[in-house]
Amino acid sequence: MMTPSQEPLRRPDGLKVTFRKVSFPFESTGFDRHWHSRSPFISHFWSALSQAFGPGEKFFIDSVRALRSEIKDEALLEEMEQFVRQEAHHTIQHRKFNRMVAALGYDTAKLEARYAAPLDAVREKMDPMDMLRVTMALEHFTSGFAHQFFANPAIGAGADPNVVALWAWHAAEEAEHKATAFDVYERLGGGYAMRAATLPVAWGLILAITLRNTFQMLREDGSFSLPDVLRGMAYLFGRKGLVTGLLPTFLDYFRRDFHPWEEDDSASIARWEAENSAYVVERDGERVAPARTTPPPAPVASDALELELPAVSAA
Ligand SMILES: [Fe+2]
Ligand SMILES: [Fe+2]
Repeated sequence: MMTPSQEPLRRPDGLKVTFRKVSFPFESTGFDRHWHSRSPFISHFWSALSQAFGPGEKFFIDSVRALRSEIKDEALLEEMEQFVRQEAHHTIQHRKFNRMVAALGYDTAKLEARYAAPLDAVREKMDPMDMLRVTMALEHFTSGFAHQFFANPAIGAGADPNVVALWAWHAAEEAEHKATAFDVYERLGGGYAMRAATLPVAWGLILAITLRNTFQMLREDGSFSLPDVLRGMAYLFGRKGLVTGLLPTFLDYFRRDFHPWEEDDSASIARWEAENSAYVVERDGERVAPARTTPPPAPVASDALELELPAVSAA
């Protein structure tokens, strides 16, 4: 049933998914291996999750690109292009962070491979709409994290601000493009049952892999301690924990009439934009002069993804 709706996209007034090129100070300052609250568990949880973005965002980009020719709505096509550019740049920035984690002595290739394995299996066996459903489920995860990140200051409290800047930018853009994949699916007549069935599997896997990777990192630097793990578990699963806070978001997705923008995060995005312009080098194709520049990073070898950016041209 391919019945692209002609209704306008549901977005808050003034919301426009926007590509921003960024530069963060952690590249020059470095960071402690236990950069979050001096907690090995909490630091490694985030550092492990960062390893998901290489394979994950490539998967998101491919799944959205694969359906591009079936979308007729110009506004959605433009948003899909910005989505691709945002995700590709997230990967570039996280890979810089990930290489520095690797330089601290962790086997990041193994961490990343654990995220890549289920995504590769989906890619091999399923069609583009199935891939898109997985992308939507994981986009709901990242935008749920983003909402938590902005709504609950305890999540970033005590962390190295130079690293938090990376996550805050990523959170803002995940919130900004949270409905892109969802609306592609809806416009192409994607069904409710499979959308709902995909969510628990995708969320279960990414959380399980991230926890497994967290424990690998604790083992690798010999920093496992029961009090720290209990503190980390409370940070994730306690009454005001990060994962606990995601529960309502998780359940919302099972409503038939769910739409990502029923939770309006536009004020958080605007606040991030107002407070973090110093990290933005280019916005919407225009170079901007940051008020507080950071020293240019040493040349890195992974900007290959950047080469992919022009491949998606304007409609
Ligand atoms: Fe992303
Ligand atoms: Fe995303």
